[in-house]
Amino acid sequence: MDLIVARDRSELLAARAGLGIGRAGRYGADGGALALVPTMGALHEGHRSLIRLAREHADHVAVSIFVNPLQFGPNEDFSRYPRTFDADLEVCEAEGVSMVFAPAAEVMYLPDRQVGVSSGQMGTVVEGAFRPGHFDGVLTVVLKLFNLVQPDAAVFGQKDAQQIALIRRMVADLNLPITIIGAPTIREPDGLALSSRNRYLSAADRVTALALSAALREGARQTRPKDILHAAHAVLDEAARADPPLVLDYLSLVHPATFTAVTEDHRGEAVLTIAAKVGATRLIDNVVLTLTP
Ligand code: PAF
Repeated sequence: MDLIVARDRSELLAARAGLGIGRAGRYGADGGALALVPTMGALHEGHRSLIRLAREHADHVAVSIFVNPLQFGPNEDFSRYPRTFDADLEVCEAEGVSMVFAPAAEVMYLPDRQVGVSSGQMGTVVEGAFRPGHFDGVLTVVLKLFNLVQPDAAVFGQKDAQQIALIRRMVADLNLPITIIGAPTIREPDGLALSSRNRYLSAADRVTALALSAALREGARQTRPKDILHAAHAVLDEAARADPPLVLDYLSLVHPATFTAVTEDHRGEAVLTIAAKVGATRLIDNVVLTLTP
């Protein structure tokens, strides 16, 4: 079946009807289940893996492509964020996506917009401490996408660990009838986590950027929070002396559901998470560890 591209709510509803998905189409209903993969475009192998996972959970997959102005700070890369729409459509077509939702900013946001989602205290820590308002912008657009596309399930990458934790929190706090599916981070053979922003990296930047995944690997070899952080910091400190240098925003070991720092006696899952700048590019990465006695 041909890929349908919808630009607004009425085109989306027509696309859903064309696929046989009713307004109240939920898992098991006639027409089958729909899974959404929300993206900002510039699709790469990581997005392909999200789409494939979505296909395992639903009869139809919708991909949204929207560079959301609300989640970028004033000095961030909104205007230079890569926009590769034609290539993105080819990826969607090749991966068997049923529909792409690609709204213009005016379709998503009224000029006198007043109301949005608050990410609460959890949205102000770790990544949120460096990007004020970022998670409010993410949750607001994700809720709007959920309301517009009306999927049964949605797939997000674990690479944005705090983002998916907050989306799960929003689904729980606001009783949204949507199943959230986490997808593992896809890496280059040398360990670099795939990201649309990797295309900003020069060859020299890319070498320094390998310190993020190397630090996570070194941290993961340890078992106690203090040792985990110490081992990861050692790698990052060395990269801070490289050319170009790595400039660390944070290295944190946090609870996966709340993103509060774990204590030394913590047992169970913890997320070791990093954000750093290399040249003009800000990168994030994380690994989920299980701390045992
Ligand atoms: O992860 C992303 O690409 C974005 O934050 C998302 C979830 C599509 C919201 O704009």
